[in-house]
Amino acid sequence: MRTTAALRRLVSETTLRPRQLILPMFVAEGADAPRPIASMPGVVQHTRDSLRKAAVEAVRAGVGGLMLFGIPAHRDATGSGGIDENGILNVALRDLRAELGDATVLMADTCLDEFTDHGHCGVLDENGAVDNDATLELYADMAVAQAEAGAHMLGPSGMMDGQVGVIRRALDEAGHTETAILAYSAKYASAFYGPFREAVDSQLKGDRKTYQQDPGNAREALREIELDVEEGADAIMIKPALPYLDILRQAADVSPVPVAAYNISGEYAMVEAAAANGWLDRERTILEVLTSIRRAGADMILTYWATEAAAWLD
Ligand code: PBG
Repeated sequence: MRTTAALRRLVSETTLRPRQLILPMFVAEGADAPRPIASMPGVVQHTRDSLRKAAVEAVRAGVGGLMLFGIPAHRDATGSGGIDENGILNVALRDLRAELGDATVLMADTCLDEFTDHGHCGVLDENGAVDNDATLELYADMAVAQAEAGAHMLGPSGMMDGQVGVIRRALDEAGHTETAILAYSAKYASAFYGPFREAVDSQLKGDRKTYQQDPGNAREALREIELDVEEGADAIMIKPALPYLDILRQAADVSPVPVAAYNISGEYAMVEAAAANGWLDRERTILEVLTSIRRAGADMILTYWATEAAAWLD
């Protein structure tokens, strides 16, 4: 059954299509030229203009959606730039919605860490700990601002308890009943986020172990998914992808909603570094990585390779 390419194609179980790929993109306030991200060769912090062009290119390549992250020029303790309608993320959402309309699924990171001067995903209490419930109020405002700016789907990634329910209610009350929620349900406190810190100029000094999951735990991932679905999640996410394919499989087996996996910055950087050294065949490795994530159960994959891989798959 493996003898010829045609035989292998006939019995192949796993499909990998451009529409299943979501491209995460970074846009920096005040940038006059795209800025390379050293630990993610090939990925840049976009200007508003280069973002628009890269988004059009991704959509032409057949990519299924775009996930936007904003890098503000100024940060503060409450991440106000993430909520401000003139903040870079909301401005960029408006740009892309005007350019692309409903031709793609426009998504936004609904989280404060890119906008806070301490780099945490929420606001801090007097002891310097993340204040879950005070953060939820800001997420509600952020979600409404993003929906108003044109996002079709929001990606709450802060792992605050109750975030999906609060965002759903806020959206509904503001009349955005059709804005969907892609919940980062099972998000692990991972070392693989390293390059992302550079990508968004993160100010974080410590770690996120008090709100993101312990890498050794599987059961609580299923519990988090169940809670998010009860609170109104339209799709759920496992993140990172490769070190957590077992979690992805377990989630896919029980989830009543579509399952996404985020092939994150560190997974990208590992392959790019090895390929640059001539240690791995880049294209084969990337396609094997993405196929594995699909095989493990992901309906959709957030990957920095989305546009390039989509072209290979055509
Ligand atoms: C939080 C967020 C992070 C990523 C996506 N959303 C960073 C974190 O939680 O520390 C990481 C994505 C990647 O590493 O590619 N806003």
